Amino acid sequence: MAMKLSEKCFSFAKTVFFDIISSKFRAGSLKRSLDLSYVIFEKIAYNFEIFSSNYINMYCEIVEKEIRLANITSKDNVLVIGAGSLPATSVLIAQKSGASVVSIDVDKAAINKANVLIKRLDLSDKLKLVHADGRYYDFEKFDVIFVLYAIKQLDEIFEKISKKIKTDTRVIYRSVFDKETNTIKSRIDLSKFLEVKNIVKSENISPAASALLLKKDT
Ligand SMILES: C[S@@+](CC[C@H](N)C(=O)[O-])C[C@H]1O[C@@H](n2cnc3c(N)ncnc32)[C@H](O)[C@@H]1O
Repeated sequence: MAMKLSEKCFSFAKTVFFDIISSKFRAGSLKRSLDLSYVIFEKIAYNFEIFSSNYINMYCEIVEKEIRLANITSKDNVLVIGAGSLPATSVLIAQKSGASVVSIDVDKAAINKANVLIKRLDLSDKLKLVHADGRYYDFEKFDVIFVLYAIKQLDEIFEKISKKIKTDTRVIYRSVFDKETNTIKSRIDLSKFLEVKNIVKSENISPAASALLLKKDT
């Protein structure tokens, strides 16, 4: 009974934040408004355990698709840029693939909150949270790099990624699906930096979609 009620509350909050608020913005600013909705939602939902677990569950479908897209296994070292206060993606990658995950965020308060959750989930061995800016992180030792939504200075980050990653590193970029062009919406021209290989769409958190990007042949 209590479970059903909390699920209903979460579903209501999700509708208010992601459907109603976001739809008030013009189509051109959809991506930015969605980015902001998620960051604010995480900061609030962090305080309520039942919201946190529903929030993490909401990401299951897209993360499972991303794991298959990038063929992530327990042997991989994964970097996630943009942990957030509720590091749902990082938690699910560690739990579902068994990979070792480092998740970074420029927001120190978000890292502190995320650390509490990781300890609660007993994931500290598999998932490390680091206060750092994606622009200055060392990409070389990672097999898979996730660049999530709401990441600032995207062009600088992709410029560095394209130069520093190993030839077989898989990069997953999560953003919004663009129905008109049948591809991923981005503030930057991704093909300038990496080769776009494939895309998966989320049904659960539509219009989210993720692209698999690989180093270009030189
Ligand atoms: C990417 S989302 C959070 C992802 C979500 N929690 C998940 O698990 O899918 C937003 C976070 O990215 C962080 N961020 C934005 N730009 C960044 C950058 N250049 N480097 C590191 N973190 C960044 C923000 O501080 C914010 O907390």
